[in-house]
Amino acid sequence: MQVYKVGGAVRDRLLGLPVTDVDRVVVGATTEEMLAQGFRPVGADFPVFLHPKTGEEYALARTERKSGRGYGGFTFYASPEVTLEEDLIRRDLTINAMAEDDQLNLTDPYHGQRDLEARILRHVSPAFAEDPLRVLRVARFAARYAGLGFTVADETMDLMRQLSESGELQALTAERSWKEISRALMEDHPQVFIQVLRDCGALKVLMPEVDALFGVPQPATHHPEIDTGLHTLSVLEQSALHKQPLTVRWACLLHDLGKGLTPEEEWPRHIAHEHTGLKLIKAVNERFKVPKDCQELALLVGQYHTHGHRALELKASTLLELLQSFDIYRRPQRFEEFIAACEMDARGRKGLELRSYPQADYLRGAAKAAREVAVQPLLEQGFKGPELGEALKRERLKALKIYKDNA
Ligand code: CTP
Repeated sequence: MQVYKVGGAVRDRLLGLPVTDVDRVVVGATTEEMLAQGFRPVGADFPVFLHPKTGEEYALARTERKSGRGYGGFTFYASPEVTLEEDLIRRDLTINAMAEDDQLNLTDPYHGQRDLEARILRHVSPAFAEDPLRVLRVARFAARYAGLGFTVADETMDLMRQLSESGELQALTAERSWKEISRALMEDHPQVFIQVLRDCGALKVLMPEVDALFGVPQPATHHPEIDTGLHTLSVLEQSALHKQPLTVRWACLLHDLGKGLTPEEEWPRHIAHEHTGLKLIKAVNERFKVPKDCQELALLVGQYHTHGHRALELKASTLLELLQSFDIYRRPQRFEEFIAACEMDARGRKGLELRSYPQADYLRGAAKAAREVAVQPLLEQGFKGPELGEALKRERLKALKIYKDNA
């Protein structure tokens, strides 16, 4: 039997990037031979094994046929007769369909190296269409390698467009979609992920609420870029430039969804978009079974980002309500993430990317002032239960008034 490295490990080595995961394909072996050598089978259906010592993945060369809708609808054929070329042709992109042996001899029947050099993401064969998740994968690779100059081949875009129109994307499970979305958002150019999905019509299917933002104007005085969709892309871009965590990036993507609902006669103003957007943010959160911390922050940022921007003008009582809504006493990190998302929103405007955001330190200072109100003296004065809560609020309000006056 022969063993080859395949997929991402070969691609990233040729790109001169660090290789983390190594997948291997085994040609000319049977399941029995693998078991006899001590390999551990991964699942009942997949001909995939773990190396007894390194724990790395070894898959028997296989062909695949789609036999139904969705992810379960595949039949595999793995046997010692399946060739390396047959295994490679079922893969998504030419740059992912190369193999190399121990001596670094490259097997590249579908010209992955040529496409690597030309910086092209191109599908290997029509079998691409057998897994609709690949639409998201290609957009994710575009987001990852945009800095190197990669773009999606026209014919691959056509195929992605057909897949988006066919209704196949609806068959994807929430879990598989979220895995791609969350990985893509953490890439260096997450805005490219959204742009590619939009260009092939997949955004309209997956997140119509985000797609609807394109073509919606905002006032040029605050938003020189005008278009709400372009603004959202810039906010995402800023979130990556500033190395924000997933929670913040997710909130950045969804913060303005309400603007997609504004009646045209009110354009370019978006009165109360913070409130109208909440049900849309909730719907997107639920569609992809998004982790709780991401869900929560997206809703809070959606509701309060304009408070963040107006922080310096807020009355002490409104400031207190904001801090209470974030439960800053028990969740200090979440309030920091809110401030970060507001700052990314402010920076995601054309020509204003480098403008300072004094609201951030002002909000931090307000949170500190509220937190510094001590409970002990109130307990000593005999306050208990709900009355203690009220007394604490009064003291915090006093502290915020002093903070505001001295700021
Ligand atoms: N693959 C595919 N279609 C998919 C998933 C995977 O064709 N839907 C193939 C590709 O050849 C890919 C390989 O399986 O290179 C390994 O998949 P995976 O580990 O998910 O991706 P990598 O290419 O290794 O990329 P990453 O760096 O994102 O892990």
